[in-house]
Amino acid sequence: MNNKTILITGCSTGFGKLTARLFQSKGWNVIATMRSPEKETELNKLPNVLVTRLDVTEPQSITDAIIAGMEQFGAIEALVNNAGISGMGVFEQWDDQEINAIFNTNVYGPMRVTQQVLPIMRNQKEGVIINISSLAGILGSPYSSVYSAAKFAVEGLTEALALEYAPFNIKTKVIAPGAYETNLFTTIPHRILANGDQQIRDYSDKMLQKMNATMEQMRQQGAQESDPQEVADKIYQCVTEETSVHNVSGSDAEAILQMKKSMPEDQLMKAISDMFVPELHTA
Ligand SMILES: NC(=O)c1ccc[n+]([C@@H]2O[C@H](COP(=O)([O-])OP(=O)(O)OC[C@H]3O[C@@H](n4cnc5c(N)ncnc54)[C@H](OP(=O)(O)O)[C@@H]3O)[C@@H](O)[C@H]2O)c1
Repeated sequence: MNNKTILITGCSTGFGKLTARLFQSKGWNVIATMRSPEKETELNKLPNVLVTRLDVTEPQSITDAIIAGMEQFGAIEALVNNAGISGMGVFEQWDDQEINAIFNTNVYGPMRVTQQVLPIMRNQKEGVIINISSLAGILGSPYSSVYSAAKFAVEGLTEALALEYAPFNIKTKVIAPGAYETNLFTTIPHRILANGDQQIRDYSDKMLQKMNATMEQMRQQGAQESDPQEVADKIYQCVTEETSVHNVSGSDAEAILQMKKSMPEDQLMKAISDMFVPELHTA
């Protein structure tokens, strides 16, 4: 029986919930954190799971969750910075509020949690930190520029910490998942799509149509819906086995990574553009 402890952010749904379940089933103690633990009905019924409140934008809630976890389990051997939000729109449509929200949750959030967990791991002389990036963190993604910028930041932060904290026996790794059906896309605020001048709003509409058409075409050509459990399994592998610092999950992410490694940049840009960027007929 493993009696190690993992703290995971964003366990209310999606990858976070699946990861909490998986580690619990493998005998880990799980500090399953979420913004609204009062709504949780499943994880809090499992043995060795502490469901507790943590909002990555609120430093005190991070401190409180860590104290509660340490009181119950006495150690934190692994941390998964999973909580995240997404967004879409042509860059000029993004306002400060939306840009700040993306960076606050997806970049400053993992930074805050990591800074509070690192002293515990240093004291234990061991630890593994997994950050969840995205395919948009390895390839600049049209219509998701700000999300992409945030996830590139997560990739860079991870690489730097992997080097900086190796002497403390703390491993830091990142996983870039491809596209998976979770709540991530259904919770995107569409408010900003009304921003911008007429040309930008028209361009934005066309880009959304083009992206939807490409997705539909891929489905018709037999592209399978990826199973989000793959991401939980990849997290488990990265925590428990020797892996590289940068990891991907999903056949789409693997294919794009391969294209990025093997194609000249202009060919890669053209291939991505053909899939997602509409033509602009200006007078
Ligand atoms: N699904 C994909 O295709 C995909 C692809 C690449 C990367 N990712 C990344 O994977 C991670 C998990 O996403 P998912 O797909 O599992 O989506 P999801 O089902 O929407 O889960 C996101 C989780 O993050 C939580 N969260 C949001 N803001 C938070 C905050 N301020 N503090 C704490 N928790 C917060 C949400 O909690 P609430 O219930 O309280 O909102 C939810 O539990 C994210 O980092 C996302 O960027 C997803």
